Amino acid sequence: MKRVKFVLDDKSIPKKWYNIQADLPTPLHPPLNPATGKPVGPEDLAPIFPMALIEQEVSTKRWIDIPEDVLEKLLLWRPSPLYRAHNFEKALGTPAKIYFKNEGVSPAGSHKPNSAIPQAYYNKIAGTKRLTTETGAGQWGCALSMACKLFGLDLKVYMVRISFEQKPYRKMMMRTWGAECVPSPSRDTETGRRILAENPDTPGSLGIAISEAIEDAVSSKNTKYSLGSVLNFVCLHQTIIGLEAKKQMKMAGDYPDIVIGCVGGGSNFAGISFPFVHDKINGENVRIIGAEPSACPTMTKGPFIYDFGDTAQKTPLMAMHSLGHNFVPPPLHAGGLRYHGVAPLVSRLLLDNLIEAKSYQQSECYKYAVLWAQTEGFIPAPEASHAIAAVAKEALQAKEEGKEKTILFCWSGHGLLDLGAYDSYFAGKLKDFDIQDDAIKKSLTGIAHLPKPSL
Ligand SMILES: Cc1ncc(COP(=O)(O)O)c(C=O)c1O
Repeated sequence: MKRVKFVLDDKSIPKKWYNIQADLPTPLHPPLNPATGKPVGPEDLAPIFPMALIEQEVSTKRWIDIPEDVLEKLLLWRPSPLYRAHNFEKALGTPAKIYFKNEGVSPAGSHKPNSAIPQAYYNKIAGTKRLTTETGAGQWGCALSMACKLFGLDLKVYMVRISFEQKPYRKMMMRTWGAECVPSPSRDTETGRRILAENPDTPGSLGIAISEAIEDAVSSKNTKYSLGSVLNFVCLHQTIIGLEAKKQMKMAGDYPDIVIGCVGGGSNFAGISFPFVHDKINGENVRIIGAEPSACPTMTKGPFIYDFGDTAQKTPLMAMHSLGHNFVPPPLHAGGLRYHGVAPLVSRLLLDNLIEAKSYQQSECYKYAVLWAQTEGFIPAPEASHAIAAVAKEALQAKEEGKEKTILFCWSGHGLLDLGAYDSYFAGKLKDFDIQDDAIKKSLTGIAHLPKPSL
């Protein structure tokens, strides 16, 4: 009988996160205070994050202990299973071996609770009573809603309007976990009111929703802000995915030639790949590929610049690949991939050629997502379908070359609440979008005055 699942018991859950900052060949550029142009200090971040997270953001310690109370909650669904996708391999007729880490088994349905739980925990022990956040597709909003309820915190979620309208069930999940969820831009913040006055029909964007959530946090009592991707500490928390996967690949008697994840802000990709980037830095021969949408080609077309993380310029300047903080991506269904920037850590690895980036049109992603559902059973989230398209391409390449490659990827979430997207695909209504260089140039002209990071 072929082995399909590789399952770790509770005792085998990793007890430490892996911090890639300890091993970077080139250190990160510091985030800058836009007013002074100087690196931000902990005191600049203290109004929005608890100190434990700020320390993790700048730490260069290789291994960071996962607190007992966090492990206890992660054990509700972790360790997550690793699967071998025999049926998908067969459908492609590839000699490649395809393994996937199923992050869709979490209560919220994606990898996002891996960081929501520690963020809620560190806020709780610091005395925070309420959090604010943004959400794209609603996955992060759901994850943080659950985490806040488990630790007894209130939460308000600013959800990108297009997803708020396309994905009504996620806001019901957030309510079930006790959170308040409003469409962004909203009338509840100055930023939201200003943007609505300028463009009443805007679909919203993660950049706008982040601005609203930060404005709310800094102007409300006992409130802090929480971000579901991009930051170093979020990437750190997600490394539990890759650390488990390493143990499971060992159980399978394999090691990947290629590691793949889809990239929005970069957190699930960081999670599956950073423990393998560690091996690559230490001489292992492994390719690592981030898959992004052609409609929001941050890594493949965005320059490496200092830019704001949000539309209203409330965050520090971060050195990253960016399409410009005013870039509003077309309304593609993978809402969680509609972000103008990408994690500084992921950007750094791309510059240092430790990882590769590729972009895919959504129609191609759905083609492979449907093949996946019809062979492996699980229906992927639109975001995860980008990783699946990348896996399929690599597996077909292996077939052409007659090589038995081993591919590992992060199946970052299920798509059971994204069925409207599948419906559009079957009705032939799904549009592909190509972002022209001119549009990116235009979006970047407004920030030409910002400091430039050296390469
Ligand atoms: C299922 C799923 N995968 C991937 C992403 C992209 O986010 P990140 O790049 O931070 O992993 C999201 C974001 O919402 C998501 O919901």
